[in-house]
Amino acid sequence: MEFLIPSPETVQRVASFLDDGNIAALPTETVYGLGADATNRDAVEKIFKAKGRPDFNPLIVHVSSIDMARKISEFNSTADLLAQTYWPGPLTFILPLRESAGIAGNVTAGLKTIGVRMPASDVTRAIIDRLGKPVAAPSANASGSLSPTKPEHVARSLAGRVDMIVTGGKADIGLESTIIDLTSEQPVLLRAGFVTRDAIEQLIGCAVIDNTKQTENTAPTAPGQMLKHYAPKTPLRLNAVDVQNGEALLAFGSVKFMGLKSGGHVRDLPLSHYMNLSETGDLGEAASNLFSMLHALDLSGAERIAVMNVPDQGIGRAINDRLTRAAESA
Ligand code: TXA
Ligand code: MG
Repeated sequence: MEFLIPSPETVQRVASFLDDGNIAALPTETVYGLGADATNRDAVEKIFKAKGRPDFNPLIVHVSSIDMARKISEFNSTADLLAQTYWPGPLTFILPLRESAGIAGNVTAGLKTIGVRMPASDVTRAIIDRLGKPVAAPSANASGSLSPTKPEHVARSLAGRVDMIVTGGKADIGLESTIIDLTSEQPVLLRAGFVTRDAIEQLIGCAVIDNTKQTENTAPTAPGQMLKHYAPKTPLRLNAVDVQNGEALLAFGSVKFMGLKSGGHVRDLPLSHYMNLSETGDLGEAASNLFSMLHALDLSGAERIAVMNVPDQGIGRAINDRLTRAAESA
């Protein structure tokens, strides 16, 4: 497995690697993606294999320009407005697919719609631009496990199944993109993320249906909605107000009033068993730390991870969405 730092050589090398039908892990501002040329069915098939992803779950296609997005999907005025405001950035549109664009059928799992997004990472956009074709890229982790926000998370989750990882440090946003379905009259939010439903409603001046809370494992519009997703191996206990024996603590804000059930204070926990999403209670900071801290606590040997309450407002909603799914028992 090779780690490549962003450079003109890397852009050239990875673009031709993808052009040859290979897959490579790429940084984005949300989470690392596992990319392939979206017009090459065999290359896309390698993504499904490497992740162990069910073939009914479609992939998001990444573009380097709005022009490229328009070639593969039918933009409408809402998409235009949102793209002007949020692209490049952590917002994915579901739009009607342009069948003439040559997107491989396995990318969309046979649907007549396509998920499109322009990522903020310069090196990733440069690679797509150089390739001259859109890049299909789900999160670069084994299906059902925690999303990767650092190169080492990719390496651990996909050991032996990915040859090239382009490094971009820790993902800024740290949560998968917001997904909004723009294929019907009224927009539908399919996945909560950094761009909130409120912000979208304000911008477009119309109500957005919230369809992020899928409670049953029926075929969802966005399989990312399935419960038991983004899960660490260690069980989670949410809204913890104390720490029980054998638990690690994922804190948010002040831990002044957090005690250990066995007596004592959080500072008595082993170092590996305590992490704080944001000591100052900053939700953006918490979002960007969420997956990396869950990855770390998952490796701590704790029997369970106690998670303090995170306010359910703004991006806190997306954080709680991921925490709830991670806490769902199998
Ligand atoms: O932030 C992100 O979106 C990251 C980075 C790599 O860009 N990607 C990501 O991909 O999270 P993935 O595959 O882990 O999640 C994509 C979600 C899935 O829940 C999938 O079902 C949904 O997008 N999706 C893709 N195409 C769709 C479509 N045509 N209709 C409905 N849902 C779709
Ligand atoms: Mg994923």
